[in-house]
Amino acid sequence: MNKESYTISKICCIGAGYVGGPSMAVIADNCPELEINIVDVNEERIKRWNHDDLKNIPVYEPKLEEIVSRVRGKNLFFSTNVFKEIESADIIFLCVNTPTKTQGFGAGKASNLKWLEICARQIAENAKGHTIIVEKSTVPVRTAEVLKNILITNTKKSFSILSNPEFLAEGSAINDLNNPDRILIGGEDKKAIEALSDIYAKWIDKNKIIKTNLWSSELSKLTSNAFLAQKISSINSISALCEKTGADIEEVAKAVGADKRIGDKFLASGPGFGGSCFQKDLLNLIYLCEYFNLDEVAKYWESVLNINLWQQKRISRLIVEKLFGTLNEKKIAILGFSFKANTNDTRESPAIKICMDLLKEGSFLNIHDPKVTSKQINKELKDYSKNEEYNFYNENSWEKTLDIDEALKDASAVVILTEWEVYKDIDWENKEFLMSSPAWIFDTRTITERKSINKTNLNYWRIGNEF
Ligand code: NAD
Ligand code: UGA
Repeated sequence: MNKESYTISKICCIGAGYVGGPSMAVIADNCPELEINIVDVNEERIKRWNHDDLKNIPVYEPKLEEIVSRVRGKNLFFSTNVFKEIESADIIFLCVNTPTKTQGFGAGKASNLKWLEICARQIAENAKGHTIIVEKSTVPVRTAEVLKNILITNTKKSFSILSNPEFLAEGSAINDLNNPDRILIGGEDKKAIEALSDIYAKWIDKNKIIKTNLWSSELSKLTSNAFLAQKISSINSISALCEKTGADIEEVAKAVGADKRIGDKFLASGPGFGGSCFQKDLLNLIYLCEYFNLDEVAKYWESVLNINLWQQKRISRLIVEKLFGTLNEKKIAILGFSFKANTNDTRESPAIKICMDLLKEGSFLNIHDPKVTSKQINKELKDYSKNEEYNFYNENSWEKTLDIDEALKDASAVVILTEWEVYKDIDWENKEFLMSSPAWIFDTRTITERKSINKTNLNYWRIGNEF
C-alpha cells in the first residue's frame, strides 16, 4: 500500500434519487470490496429501496432491479442514518437535488443550493478523519468554493473536494454507468483524484477518465447538457419547417447526422425536451452568463429554451385546430406521460404542459403510461395548475387507463407523447373501431408509420412530416 495514497473502504452517498441509487448500485456491483451506504432524509424513498419486492424500488430503470438484487444487503445499504454514515465514510458522494430557485435573488433561473449546503454543514459536523467530498449533483461553476468555505470552518478536520459530474441519461442509466463515454474528475488534491479514479478504473478504461481543475469540471457538465438541449431545439425548429415545405424531418435528420462532425445522436424531433435537468441547467447557465454581464451569451442559450417551449405550445395549438377549434366534450387519449421512454420520471415532462393545454380547451383525457402512476400524474398536473393560466384544473377531467384499448375508447384523438416500445407495436387497423369517428392520430415521436395508418380511416399528423 502506497503511503502517499488515501485508503478507501467505505463510501457514503447522500441522496437516494435517480442518480444516487443507480450510480452507487453500479459501483457496488463492480467493486465488491467497497461498502456503500446510501442515505436520504426521505424515509418513504428509503423504505422503497429496501422493499422485499424489487418491483417497488422507487426508480424504474432497465437492469436496475437485477443489480440491486445482487448487491443490496451485501455491500450496498440504504438508510436514513445520515450522520452515522457520514462519520464512518472515507469518501462522500453528494447526489442531492439542485433545482431552480423559486424565490429570492435569481428566482426562476439560479440553482437552489440549499440541499447541498445542508449536506456540507452535516459533513463539517459529523465527518471524522480526512474525508473526500465528491460533488456529483449538477452545480453552478465555483460551487466547490462554497462547499470549501463551509467545510473549513471546522479546522480540526480535513477535506478534499472533487467535482465528478454524472452524465447518465434516464432510461439507459445502467448502460451509461457501466460503459460511459467519459468520467470527469476535477480537483486540486491529486491524491484524492487518484483515489476516485481508482474506483472507476475497476471497470472503466483509464483513458476515459478526464482530469481537470474544479471549475472546468463543473462548467463542462452544464455545457454538455446545454449542447445536447441545443441539438434537440435545432432539430425541433426544423421539424416545423418540414411541415411547411414537404420535407420529412427523419430524412433530414438522417442526412444531417451522417456528417460525423454533427453526429446522428440527439436529432430525434419530438414534443420538446423534458426531464429534471435540461431546462434547469440551461437556466443556470443563462443566470451565470447574466451575472457575469455576458448578455449575448445568455440570449443565445435562452433561445434554446424558447424553442422548446414554443414546440410544446405549437403541438397543443395544432391539435385544437385540427379538431375544429374546440375540444369541449371530446375525449382525447394520451399515450405516454413520462418525459421519455424507459423511465417512470415525469419531471418537466412535455406531457404536463400539453395535457394542461388540452384540458384548458375542455377535453377529457384518458391517460396511459406503462410506468407512471395516477398519483404521480395528478401531482404533476396539480403542481402545474399553480400557474395562474392553469388554475382551472379539475382532478375529475382525466383518468389513468390500465390499457391502451381503454384509453382509445370513444376518443376523438390519440396523442403519442412518449416513445414507449408498446406504442410502436399498435396495430391501428384493429384499433380505429374503438375510437369515435372522425378521429385523429397525433404522433409527436415519429414512432408510427404513415403507410400503415393510410390503410385506416384515421386522420394523421406526424411531427415534421405533414404530407
Ligand atoms: P432526486 O430528487 O431524484 O434525488 C435527490 C435526493 O436527495 C432526494 O431523495 C432527497 O430527499 C435527497 N436529499 C436532499 N437533501 C438531502 C440531505 N441533506 N440529506 C439526505 N438526503 C437529501 O434527484 P436526482 O435526479 O437524483 O438528481 C440529483 C442531482 O444529480 C441533481 O443535481 C441533478 O441535476 C443531477 N443529475 C441528475 C441526472 C438524472 O438523470 N436525474 C443525471 C445527471 C445529473
Ligand atoms: C440528460 C443527458 O442526456 C444526460 O447526459 C445528463 O446526465 C442528464 O440529462 C442530466 O444531467 O440530468 P435525461 O434528461 O435523463 O439525460 O434524458 P435524455 O435522453 O437526454 O432526454 C432528455 C429529453 O430530451 C427527453 O424529453 C427526450 O425525449 C428528449 N430528446 C432526447 C429528444 O426530444 N430528442 C432526442 O434526440 C433526444
